[in-house]
Amino acid sequence: MMKPVKGSLTILADNIVVGKVESLGEHGFSVYLETDKGVYLFDTGKGGTIVHNATVYKKDLASLRNIILSHGHGDHTGGLPEVLRFHKQIDVLGHPDIFLNRFRKEEDGTERYGGIPYTRGYLEKMGARFVLNRDYSEIDRGFYLTGEVPRETDFELGDMGDRYGIRDGKAVPEIILDDQSLLITTERGLLIVLGCAHSGIINIINHAIKMTGVDTIFAIIGGTHLGFSGQVQLEKTIAALKTYHIEHLIPGHCTGIEVATRLSREFEKIFHFSHVGRVFEF
Ligand SMILES: [Fe+2]
Ligand SMILES: [Fe+2]
Repeated sequence: MMKPVKGSLTILADNIVVGKVESLGEHGFSVYLETDKGVYLFDTGKGGTIVHNATVYKKDLASLRNIILSHGHGDHTGGLPEVLRFHKQIDVLGHPDIFLNRFRKEEDGTERYGGIPYTRGYLEKMGARFVLNRDYSEIDRGFYLTGEVPRETDFELGDMGDRYGIRDGKAVPEIILDDQSLLITTERGLLIVLGCAHSGIINIINHAIKMTGVDTIFAIIGGTHLGFSGQVQLEKTIAALKTYHIEHLIPGHCTGIEVATRLSREFEKIFHFSHVGRVFEF
C-alpha cells in the first residue's frame, strides 16, 4: 500500500465559533490542511472571515501549494480574492461548473445569485491558474478529488427544487454537478472532506470507497447539507451511515445546529462538533 498521508487540518471558516473569542463565524466553509506532502486550502468561505481567522489561528496563507474548490457556491468561493492576495500565481482546482451562472428562487419569489461571486478573468488577473476537471483525479500522492459523484441513492435529493443554472442561454434545473469532496488516504483509512455534500453524503462515501479501494473511513468532516434536505433524507442518511465503519464524524457548516445536535446523539461515540478553529489530526 502507498505511504499514508500524515498531518492535521484546521477549520478556518464555518458557521459556528467556539473557543478563541477573536475568531469570526459566517455561513461558509474552509479547511487549512498541513500535511507531510505540503499545505493545501480546501474552500475559502464566503470571504469575510478567512484571512482574519488564519491570523487568529496562525495559519500562513502564503504557504499553500494549491487551493481546492468543492463547488462554485459563493459561501465556498467568496474568499478566493482574499487568499489570492498572498500569491503571485497559484493553481485553483475544481470542476468546470464552478463558473456556472446559478440562481435560487426564494420563498418570497425573489431570485438570488448563488454562484462564484467573481468572474474567471478577474480571478485569473489576481493570480488564479484554474485546473478544471470533471473526473476523479489525483492531486498529489494520497490526495484525490472525487470528480462528479454518481447520484445513486433514491433518498438523497437535497434541496434542488428551486435552483436553476443558465446553460447555453437557457434556464435548466441545477443539481450542482460540480460538488466534489477531497479524499486523503491516512494510516487509519479514508479522510473525507466535504464541501456541502450536494451529491449526498452516502453517494459520496460509496464513490470514495469505489474509487480508492479503501473501505475504512477514518473521518468525515465538512458540510453535509442535511440541515436543508428534509426529514426523510435525514432519517435514511442516519440509518445508512450506521452501516459503515467510521471512526470520526465532524459535520459542520450546512448541517445546521439542529441536525448536528441530532447526529451528536445518534453517533455519540464518533461525533465531534465542527467550528472555526477545530483541529483534527491524521
Ligand atoms: Fe455551503
Ligand atoms: Fe453549496
